[in-house]
Amino acid sequence: MKLAVVPGDGIGKEVIPAALTVLDAFGLDIEKVPLEIGYGKWERTGSALTDEDMIIIKECECVLFGAITTPPDPNYKSVLLRLRKELDLYANIRPFAPLANVKLPCNKKVFDLVIVRENTEGMYSGIEELHEDAAYTTRVITRKGSERIAEKACSMAKKRKMQITVVHKANVLKSDSFFRDICISVAKCNGILHNEMLVDAMAYDLILRPEKYNVIVTTNLFGDILSDVAAAISGGLGLCPSANIGDKHALFEPIHGSAPDIAGKGIANPIASILSVRMMLQWMGRETEAQILGKAVDSVIVRGIVTPDLGGSNSTIEVSDAISKIINVP
Ligand code: NAD
Ligand code: IPM
Ligand code: MN
Repeated sequence: MKLAVVPGDGIGKEVIPAALTVLDAFGLDIEKVPLEIGYGKWERTGSALTDEDMIIIKECECVLFGAITTPPDPNYKSVLLRLRKELDLYANIRPFAPLANVKLPCNKKVFDLVIVRENTEGMYSGIEELHEDAAYTTRVITRKGSERIAEKACSMAKKRKMQITVVHKANVLKSDSFFRDICISVAKCNGILHNEMLVDAMAYDLILRPEKYNVIVTTNLFGDILSDVAAAISGGLGLCPSANIGDKHALFEPIHGSAPDIAGKGIANPIASILSVRMMLQWMGRETEAQILGKAVDSVIVRGIVTPDLGGSNSTIEVSDAISKIINVP
């Protein structure tokens, strides 16, 4: 198994080495291929991701990705979006459930939901025009893109509660009534119960009643925004992992970005990246290792070995070392 390792920028350079120490504790036969890709490289060389990098990544089965700074500069093209598109990683899977002992901003302690985000089209189509007095972005929703993400949501619902919530803005956007209708017909074909929510109401309800939801399927930008909302109610971005899944490749990454406000201080929470490694182990079919890893994370949090975002005083490496130690000597 070949794994491309892309720490990226900012805290990506801290949390990915930390997550690798945890992966290494399992002693699996995984060949790691380190790659320097990102905004830092763009500043230095004028290229954030070269064609050679892309060839190397395509030769790997999967990617472990930290975070890459994506400035709001129309001349800079997001590396992550290029990877998602070129590797056709159409399903962005973002699970959320409170971890033991983590203080939450609201008093909902019991919820377990997953956002299944379409990852290759929608507002991220890349079809854009920038003129002097106007700018346009074409929102693309295709039958193929909607069917395959709805199928993914249904296959996840079959392992959960046999129901999906389709999130859209079909009261305004024709492209979203198209998306909604396809999701509903895929759900019916799969024998999965469905309900639907407008995205604004969903953002509101997710904070107040997260326990009502199980599998949420939505378009690209709405999934991006809702997943930061879900991260907030789950105890913070430092805890939330994700998987970008295609038919041939997969990329695992924390939901958070490069966090320039805390980068270089050694205090970034590595748990989002470590749980992304857990999702990678599950994707590899290594359920036993995934379970051991999950339990080790829980036990380190319960023992209070946590970074400042969780109210602790431990460093990134102290947290990952404590988790690795439990895996080595359970
Ligand atoms: P961010 O996710 O980097 O940070 C938001 C807040 O959460 C900050 O206060 C940060 O300190 C905190 N935070 C994030 N991860 C944390 C962790 N592991 N431990 C403790 N605290 C953590 O979002 P941002 O500041 O809006 O974005 C910074 C840059 O990252 C931008 O250039 C953005 O485009 C990029 N970004 C990249 C990715 C990615 O590559 N996957 C994802 C999101 C944002
Ligand atoms: C995410 C990020 C990315 C997105 C950015 C960095 C391109 O916010 O993965 O959540 O918008 O998808
Ligand atoms: Mn995001």
